[in-house]
Amino acid sequence: MLRLASWFVVSCMAVCTLSAQSIQFLQNKKIWLLTTSQNSYAMGLGPDGQLEHIYWGAPLWRTDDLQAPTPKRDISSFDPHQMLENEEFPGWGGPRYYEAALKITRSDGDRDLVLRYVSHHIDGDSLEIQMKDINDAVDVTLHYRVYPAVGIVSRWATITNHTKQEFTIVSAQSATWYMPPGDGYRLSYLSGRWAAESLLNREPIHEGLKVIESREGHTSHNFNPWFAVDNGSATETHGQVWFGALAWSGNWRIAVEQTPYRQVRVTGGLNPFDFSYPLKPGDSLTTPEFYGGVAQNGFGEASRLLHDLERAYIEPHGLKARVRPVLYNSWEATGFDVNEAGQLQLAEKASKLGVELFVMDDGWFGKRNSDRAGLGDWTVNPQKFPHGLGNLISQVNRLGMDFGLWVEPEMVNPDSDLYRAHPDWVMNFPGRPRSELRNQLVLNLARDDVKEYIYGVLDRLATEYNIRYFKWDMNRTFSEPGWPQVSPQEQQELWVKYVLNLYDILDRLRAKHPNLEIESCSGGGGRVDLGILRRVEEFWTSDNTEAFDRLRIQEGFSEAYSAKFMSAWVTDVPNMNHRSTPLEYRFLTAMQGALGIGANLNKWSEQDTQLATKMIAVDKRIRDTVQSGDLYRILSPQSNDTSANEYVARNGEQALLFAFRHSQQYNTAPPTIYLRGLNERAVYRVESIDGKLLDKQPEMSGAYLMHHGLNFRLQDDYDCTLVILQRQ
Ligand code: GLA
Repeated sequence: MLRLASWFVVSCMAVCTLSAQSIQFLQNKKIWLLTTSQNSYAMGLGPDGQLEHIYWGAPLWRTDDLQAPTPKRDISSFDPHQMLENEEFPGWGGPRYYEAALKITRSDGDRDLVLRYVSHHIDGDSLEIQMKDINDAVDVTLHYRVYPAVGIVSRWATITNHTKQEFTIVSAQSATWYMPPGDGYRLSYLSGRWAAESLLNREPIHEGLKVIESREGHTSHNFNPWFAVDNGSATETHGQVWFGALAWSGNWRIAVEQTPYRQVRVTGGLNPFDFSYPLKPGDSLTTPEFYGGVAQNGFGEASRLLHDLERAYIEPHGLKARVRPVLYNSWEATGFDVNEAGQLQLAEKASKLGVELFVMDDGWFGKRNSDRAGLGDWTVNPQKFPHGLGNLISQVNRLGMDFGLWVEPEMVNPDSDLYRAHPDWVMNFPGRPRSELRNQLVLNLARDDVKEYIYGVLDRLATEYNIRYFKWDMNRTFSEPGWPQVSPQEQQELWVKYVLNLYDILDRLRAKHPNLEIESCSGGGGRVDLGILRRVEEFWTSDNTEAFDRLRIQEGFSEAYSAKFMSAWVTDVPNMNHRSTPLEYRFLTAMQGALGIGANLNKWSEQDTQLATKMIAVDKRIRDTVQSGDLYRILSPQSNDTSANEYVARNGEQALLFAFRHSQQYNTAPPTIYLRGLNERAVYRVESIDGKLLDKQPEMSGAYLMHHGLNFRLQDDYDCTLVILQRQ
């Protein structure tokens, strides 16, 4: 169900206004106008045939308001007019000194590229604009796709060589986005590292350039390809927020710059670092899709629009996808020490708790008893599993659970049969040392033979066994990315071809095994992006499962990604940072995503088991609202006191309030929590799952809940609560 069925406004008064189409071409002014429920986007043809950005902001309703780009004058010989023109997709050529969207080197050394409009084509919600260099047939197709109901436009480009000579692309971006002219803007982005991913940053944009990127081959733990820009004063509930997310799982880059002319521009696409992509005559390169939108009501709304986009248009089964089941994974409990009897013992316990998907992690194959050997040898270890995996899987199925299996197909330990057979399959610069991170090397998936091998391994596993779910891991960054079998000119294509081949494997596997689900894991949250989300059901958010740390990781994750894709486990304490939190706190933290249990169930007390059984039952009552509903971030975990999130079901029937108290001092009461997004006139039955709600009325109106608010008894360290509201 999408937010706004009637997104378009057709109001013909004296002058004519917007039509019901999401894309209009105003022929007389040579302006393209893209319209969604939340915003408008316009560009037009400049006096020299350049395509100029005109507008990206709140919805416009009157086409007569729009004016074609006017000629600009040089301010001085140091400030050429090109720097004032806001070109939609500027080539690097002429006097242009900002971030270019495309830069090439021709075989004769000519590197000048000036793109001009040729033609366009509108097809429903899609627009293609054909551009061409002023001199030769370096052709660029700009793609636009409008998602009217969710307020988002996506942009990407195809560069085609229609000249007679090879040229080399040295930078290929997906789009440049322009904020309305002005200064005082602020940038939000997600940064971190392994076990501390997706932490939210918010900082002023000053003149100059700020880059977030990955040079690591995968999406990276250090930055996530998402940004938001506001005018400096937006909050969760107020203010305009421009935002974007790039659909790419390899080296990417988002450059945020403020020019000396009070113009903020955001340019993103393939990372030009160590990038070089030769195009023979007739060949083309397509850049990743860059989704962008403008929310009118704060950061909360910006996130909800992205969540809607992801659930309706990006995740593999879209709105038909099933709710994420409760999962069990023994990695933190058993490490590599897996075997049939041990897994079965855990499976029996997990099924009694209400678990629906049992996943066996690392250690089941080859000589994989530690991270030093076996990676690459995808045959079942006969000592650990004398009956193959068949017996374990049928027992797991008999217990009423689906079976999932951990794989890390892109990697190899040097101590493996695969490496001994194919030492040339790893990335390397011959004669130079190869960095072994976690004792492993990266297979060069840009090679088609490696791709076919990996596809074959996974296809065989999925064909032979009743595997519902692969946890697809990727546990190190790229290094020494040499590809000695191809020419030096082609070697740097590796960065892009690797990702395209990865996508190809996933697409083919999914097509052949339509029930198969996949989790994207890269040592935790190292591969979280909209490109992989087209092909997977879940992300492993972080290897850090400690609940208090998780609250901030989850906050940042939620800026860009829906809770539905956020795998979150309850694990044992003390955890990796030596902190111990109560089991209820760990459950309520994890129940804000796709709930999983990663604890050693053999060590749980009767009391733990009872509480877990209760919490899993509660999760099944509320998970549809968490996963498919609207998220309201009420109090941030960045404060040391109390944090709270609310989820409201799309049909308005259920709402959930999760609140967490880190610690209190001086016996201070936690703050009153004011709910959001409810129907003022509706009455809700109020259920406090643990009696910590101080307001005892069994029913309350939306008006009361939002304006009077709720008060809680949260006084212990790591105290927490959940309130379930059911509309009457
Ligand atoms: C990575 C994953 C973990 C686990 C291990 C197994 O670190 O993030 O969840 O699967 O690998 O080696």
